[in-house]
Amino acid sequence: MKAYQEMTREELQAEYKALLGEYRRYQAMDLKLDMSRGKPCREQLNLSMEMMDTLTSDADMTCEDGTDCRNYGVLDGIHEAKVLMGDMMENNPDNIIIYGNSSLNVMYDTVARAYTHGIMGNTPWCRLERVRFLCPVPGYDRHFGITEFFGIEMIPVPMREDGPDMDLVEELVSSDESVKGIWCVPKYSNPQGYSYSDATVRRFARLRPAAKDFRIFWDNAYGIHHLYDDHQDYLIEILAECKRAGNPDMVYKFASTSKITFPGSGISAIATSDNNLVDIKSQLKNQTIGHDKVNQLRHVRFFGDIHGMVEHMRKHADIIRPKFEAVEEILGEKLGGLGVGTWTKPNGGYFISFDAPEGCAREIIAEARKAGVTMTEAGATWPYHKDPHDANIRIAPTYPSLEDLRTAATLFTVCVRLVSAKKLLADMKKKAG
Ligand SMILES: Cc1ncc(COP(=O)(O)O)c(C=O)c1O
Repeated sequence: MKAYQEMTREELQAEYKALLGEYRRYQAMDLKLDMSRGKPCREQLNLSMEMMDTLTSDADMTCEDGTDCRNYGVLDGIHEAKVLMGDMMENNPDNIIIYGNSSLNVMYDTVARAYTHGIMGNTPWCRLERVRFLCPVPGYDRHFGITEFFGIEMIPVPMREDGPDMDLVEELVSSDESVKGIWCVPKYSNPQGYSYSDATVRRFARLRPAAKDFRIFWDNAYGIHHLYDDHQDYLIEILAECKRAGNPDMVYKFASTSKITFPGSGISAIATSDNNLVDIKSQLKNQTIGHDKVNQLRHVRFFGDIHGMVEHMRKHADIIRPKFEAVEEILGEKLGGLGVGTWTKPNGGYFISFDAPEGCAREIIAEARKAGVTMTEAGATWPYHKDPHDANIRIAPTYPSLEDLRTAATLFTVCVRLVSAKKLLADMKKKAG
């Protein structure tokens, strides 16, 4: 089939009519499918069930240094968990604090601390007239949710295949003291699955911020979440690079085992410089006596070491790779050459990013919903839920079964074609009239 833009009005009308029939057939199927959130599926969760057997009632609950994990204490996490997370994050265990069950929670706390008490002696953000954050777009909705909650002004920065537009980032960070942070998902980004190039990371490490308390919020949520053994993205380690560039305190790095073991019941961590650690702990000690050490120990006993974790991630990949490939195949088959959308083909992570023709995303998602397929809401990948192009749609292929995913993805392509054809016909009418 030729591209919609090359069709005559009559051809496009015929296509639209046929699509309406197809859409109605899907509607009659009474579907209830969900491609909205990046959640592991049941089989993935089952991979970690043996972790529950590592700490039975007769288990030895003492850590290597003699700490009894059942009791209070150890603010920054047990040593062996720091080693495990350190290997996973490619950081020195001494530069890590192990937190609770969610890295998003750590990010929230990190912004909250800067807001109420300031970073390393700087003025708390709540006392400043204006605080701004750079937000590579499309990006992760929950990041934007945190900064919106604190009334921090968000500035969208375009994402490219090799990372954010660094010319713009450098210009804004170095010229504007109110720019205090940037949200980054540097590897297998949410939603495109892009990874920052060496040059991008090096430019990040060499930023010259106008604000002394500017920090890079480096959320490496998908650092070891490869889909392939042979095609894996590589990311330069940012803490070491910042140190090398004379900017040791400029980055907070976050990660968790949410999509390794159990989301909501994993362990999370921050890795950062010695100075930042002192600053963080001065607050943290008032917030908690320590996070869940039993869960930390459970994770360590289950994986043994990073090699155990890497092996485990291969099993995840074996389950979700066919799902990503099924979506890519269906998009290619049904939309290829029609000029009604582009999409990413990531080597890892949890998402595929789809860009519909301008002004169509909201309606595509609404049509999909009416036929029983839930997608992430339109605009979610932009600050304030406002996609100025109304184009970006995040596809999350991991949760549904392969069969459901095929149905949902096919219906999605019908909605894309239907809405795109409708829009083009309306444009033609406008032009003619
Ligand atoms: C980029 C990114 N960061 C963080 C999270 C949430 O992490 P956690 O479960 O550790 O709070 C997600 C979940 O989708 C994510 O995509």
